[in-house]
Amino acid sequence: MDYDQLLELFKERRTLRAIKPDPIPDEMVDKLLEAARWAPTGFNMQPLELLVVKDLELRIAINKIVDDYKNDDFFALEATREEWQGSPWTIESHGKWQCPLAPVDILILGDTRRRVGLPMPARYSKQKGDSIFESSLSNAFMCMWLAASSLGLAAQPVSAVKYPKVQGLIKHLLNLPDYIYVYDVFLIGYNAMEGGPSAKLMRHLDEMVHYGRVKDDEFLSEEKLRDQIKKLRAGNVARHVEADKALS
Ligand SMILES: Cc1cc2nc3c(=O)[nH]c(=O)nc-3n(C[C@H](O)[C@H](O)[C@H](O)COP(=O)(O)O)c2cc1C
Repeated sequence: MDYDQLLELFKERRTLRAIKPDPIPDEMVDKLLEAARWAPTGFNMQPLELLVVKDLELRIAINKIVDDYKNDDFFALEATREEWQGSPWTIESHGKWQCPLAPVDILILGDTRRRVGLPMPARYSKQKGDSIFESSLSNAFMCMWLAASSLGLAAQPVSAVKYPKVQGLIKHLLNLPDYIYVYDVFLIGYNAMEGGPSAKLMRHLDEMVHYGRVKDDEFLSEEKLRDQIKKLRAGNVARHVEADKALS
C-alpha cells in the first residue's frame, strides 16, 4: 500500500451510525480482531482484550444501559451547556437517544494488571501510566476502525462506556472482573445509510501546523475558536440526526 492509498483509507473511514441489523460473516469479525491485535502498545505490554458479543439479549441489554444513561444523565448535563455554543442537544431538541441494534458488538477492553510491566517512572505517575494505557487501547480502537472501513463495514463507537455508571453496569452484565477496563465498544454491521454521512468540516493544515518558536498570535483567537467550535458541534449533532432519520 502506498501513501495515497493509506490517506484514502483515512479519509474514507467515517462514523456510520445507521447500522442494519443483518448479520455479518464471522470471517469479517475475525479480521477486525486481528487488525486490533497489531496495534502498537506502550512498552509492548499489550493490555488489549477483545470481547465479541453476538448474543441478542446481551446486545439489547448493552444498548439499554447506554440509551438509559444518554436519555437521563447525559442529556441532563448537555442542557447546561453554554449558550454561545449553539446547537442544543437534548431530548426536546433532537428526540431520544437510541443505539442501533447492530449484529455484533466488539468491546475493546484493557487489562489494568499489565501496567505493572511499564517502566517504573510510569508506574509512579498516575497521569503517565493512564496515558500509556489509554493510548495503547486507542491505537487498537483506530486499527479496528480502519479495518472496518476497508471491509466496507459500518462502525459506531459507544464511548459512553467510559462513564462510571455505564462502565459498572456493562461490567456487571458481562461478568467482567474488576481489573478489566472497558475502553470502548464498537457496534458493527452493514451501513444502512445510502450515500453515507454528510461531509464533515475539517480544519486546514496551515491552521494547525506550527514551526519552530511560535508567535504570540499563532493559535486561534478566542472569538475564532468559539466560532469554529459552534460549527463543528452543529455538524456533529446534525450527523447524529441524519443517522436517526435513516434508521426510522
Ligand atoms: C475517541 C472517540 C470517541 C467517539 N465516541 C463516539 C460515541 O460515543 N458515539 C458516537 O456516535 N460517535 C463517537 N465518535 C465519533 C466522532 O463523533 C466522529 O469521529 C467525528 O464526529 C468525526 O466524524 P467521522 O468519524 O465520520 O469522520 C467518537 C470518535 C472518537 C475519535
